[in-house]
Amino acid sequence: MTEFDFDAPIDRRAAADCRKWNRYPADTLPMWVADMDFAVPEPIQAALRTRLAHPVFGYAGPPASLIEAILEMLEVRHGWKVAPEAIVMLPGVEPGFNMALRGLLSPGDGVVVQTPIYAPILAAPLHWGQRRIEVPLKPIASGFSADLPALENAFAEKGTKAFLLCNPHNPTGKVYDADELSVIAASCLRHNVLIISDEIHGDLVYEGGRHYPIASLAPEIAERSITLMSASKTYNIAGLKAAFAIIPNAALRQAFVSARAGMVDSVNLMGLVATEAALRECKAWRHALLIYLQENRDFLASEIAQRFPMIGYQPPQASFLAWLDCRGIALAVEPAQFFLERARIAVSAGEEFGTLGAGHIRLNYGCRRATLAASLDRLEQALNDPKGALRPI
Ligand SMILES: Cc1ncc(COP(=O)(O)O)c(C=O)c1O
Repeated sequence: MTEFDFDAPIDRRAAADCRKWNRYPADTLPMWVADMDFAVPEPIQAALRTRLAHPVFGYAGPPASLIEAILEMLEVRHGWKVAPEAIVMLPGVEPGFNMALRGLLSPGDGVVVQTPIYAPILAAPLHWGQRRIEVPLKPIASGFSADLPALENAFAEKGTKAFLLCNPHNPTGKVYDADELSVIAASCLRHNVLIISDEIHGDLVYEGGRHYPIASLAPEIAERSITLMSASKTYNIAGLKAAFAIIPNAALRQAFVSARAGMVDSVNLMGLVATEAALRECKAWRHALLIYLQENRDFLASEIAQRFPMIGYQPPQASFLAWLDCRGIALAVEPAQFFLERARIAVSAGEEFGTLGAGHIRLNYGCRRATLAASLDRLEQALNDPKGALRPI
């Protein structure tokens, strides 16, 4: 029992702005977009209330104390010592990798991504007329592995200019170990490929694992990297729109900052306040959250093993997203449609993550255990329904 109650029900539909709970009809359980159903930790709420008491909300910049909190987190949690000037505040990680591609590459340049992958990463090179080079992750007994020879070939291709890494990886929940990252980084350096590393899920690595920022592994990797992080996933503050880039190389940083001109000036004031409170005052909460999420992950694994053995599930090593292989269930329609229309569970369709995602779904278990259990009951009912999974909807 901890002092934090992740089982407390919260009526998220009561907030009319809540995308997750208001997109689908009231009889549907939303387990799609990657935010959690838990209350934001109290120190963040208190810091926001304090700031609200001051009646002016002008353009904001990060106070020195926020930058210090970020640097401390990088050093203490990830063993990475960074200079204050390397930090660039952003309105989000997705804008961050798009700014990097737009500002530092040219149309026609090649960008390597490992598929299946988070849809906005898949789409990003195409926004800027760049070539997406897909290197599939390799399924292995314990989850997924990077295909190192295929990555080396992709980096060596003429015109490849960047590698857009997602670590921990969405949707598979893969956490890269230091050896794998070192080999990948060495290959990028050999071929002069810029590393853009989305590490938004990096503070959600479960017990037994460790998050390694790729740029932390060697100074020469840091010199060719843009690392993107945010407190938004871990502390459930995605709507406050604050993130940060770590760009130790001054020339690269200058080019990145120039690329923001005309698009991004300042960052959401409340996001800055919440980020500092999250990093400074919510360590025990994060610890308790990880235990709860890990229990959800394991509950899902045992339920699937007992009740849905035809679903493939490699329990993730981080975060709150389950990548379920539904190709073993004979369905007349794509699984996400079946989940939504027959079981009344809204999940993310595997195809959103690239063609390799067909037959899969991504289920967000960042919710009360009771909600997760209810979704599995609904799934079982739908599969047993005499109308039949095989019948067209
Ligand atoms: C891997 C990854 N990157 C980026 C984002 C979005 O980040 P932001 O809201 O900061 O743009 C998400 C959200 O789910 C994500 O999973």
